[in-house]
Amino acid sequence: MAIVAVIMNTDHTLRIYESILGLLSSEDNPTPLVRLNKVVPFEHTQVYAKLEWYNPFGAVKDRIAANMIRDAEASGHLGEGKRIVEPTSGNTGLGLAMIGNAKGYPLQTPLSKAIPLEKRTVLRFFGTEVIELDDSLCPAPGAPEGAIARAMETAKTQPDFHMLNQYVNEANPNSHYATTGPEIWKQTEGKITHFVAGLGTCGTITGTGRFLKEQRADVKVIGVYPEEGHDIPGVRSQAQLQQTKLYRPDEYDETLEATNRESFDMCLRLNQEECIIAGPSSGMALVGALKTIPDAPGTIVVIIFPDNVFKYASSFHRHFPQLCPADSQSDGTSSGPSKNDLWLAEMMENLKNPHDTIRAKDLASMVQDSKNLLLVDVRSQEIFEEGHIPQSINIPMEELGDRKKELPEDRDAPIVMVCGIGKFSKNTVLYLKSMGYRNVRSMKGGINEWVRKGHPIEPVE
Ligand SMILES: Cc1ncc(COP(=O)(O)O)c(C=O)c1O
Repeated sequence: MAIVAVIMNTDHTLRIYESILGLLSSEDNPTPLVRLNKVVPFEHTQVYAKLEWYNPFGAVKDRIAANMIRDAEASGHLGEGKRIVEPTSGNTGLGLAMIGNAKGYPLQTPLSKAIPLEKRTVLRFFGTEVIELDDSLCPAPGAPEGAIARAMETAKTQPDFHMLNQYVNEANPNSHYATTGPEIWKQTEGKITHFVAGLGTCGTITGTGRFLKEQRADVKVIGVYPEEGHDIPGVRSQAQLQQTKLYRPDEYDETLEATNRESFDMCLRLNQEECIIAGPSSGMALVGALKTIPDAPGTIVVIIFPDNVFKYASSFHRHFPQLCPADSQSDGTSSGPSKNDLWLAEMMENLKNPHDTIRAKDLASMVQDSKNLLLVDVRSQEIFEEGHIPQSINIPMEELGDRKKELPEDRDAPIVMVCGIGKFSKNTVLYLKSMGYRNVRSMKGGINEWVRKGHPIEPVE
């Protein structure tokens, strides 16, 4: 009996796909909307979560990964023999790694050591070249030693690399304008009244919000961001948002803050009470929504749940020690912090010595009064030129050793070190102290804090 070859074409209803890329979400293949029943205090208002881990590689970022690659191919930036370099908080890297694998573009991703172990390991498992750096969870804009600067450097110096740069690439919000928005409009039959999303690159809220408002201008678009110093991967605090190019608050109706505690507690409730395997930034977005949305008939809310809980197990012991038996306290390793960890922690603690840091407002008055103050900005030249404190000189951290001559002879001269978030300038204080400088401090919170407090930056935009 002859074997008849059966060709099964992509069929969303039967969920048959010719390749994994066929599973990328679109109006014909939307990610699910699920109603929340237990954790919302409403009698009338209906709240739906849009489960983005139903994307083929597990997160909302698959949408932008696919569209940024498509866009770069169309403009000739990506093609045979090219590689991708992209700084990421994890999810964009996972999407780019797999779509890059499928299309023949190997991925290199500089990222923060603070990214949960699961994400770093799975990225490597996907064949990605992972470069671990000291940076904040959602790569800090302007950090010279951070993931963004590193990727920019690679793309500038190595021609076979192309950086898609999700933080400024319009293909990011455009992917949501083309997919997430139309999906939600179709799934709610145009009855949506409120759209809510957590804020990271702001691609999700800007693209989806733009589409929904074009359908009906009175759809409320609400953005939720975490408190300063948070540890929710993928999202940005108010200070970081100030330097996020795709952050367009004039296109949103409201933005509001959720604390770390509130967000992780809501994440736990979503898993335990709603039985929805949502990740921490989903908890954050829901907490924000519940702070502002009214309980009223006809109110239909859709909240983006970007990814699921499984990528965060190793970081939960910080927030839910009760969930982790004593002997599994440290990240993935069994018996707690090593002697080296304790020693390093003590050293970093010493660095917290208040005399070694200066607040932005105190520095502002010092800049005015002091004639011989030396202000050293240790970020990269490129980022320094984008915006820096007037009167500051630029000596990138890695050049400090070679450019000692530019530092004052007088070891008691007042020196203040500055960086993006005030983390690395602290290390340079230690370095200058080892050179004998006695009056050297680091500006607390870095340029982010200086900008947040409204102090002047040059060049003036
Ligand atoms: C887990 C998680 N939540 C929220 C976001 C924010 O999405 P967007 O970058 O579109 O603002 C991201 C983005 O990386 C994310 O990974």
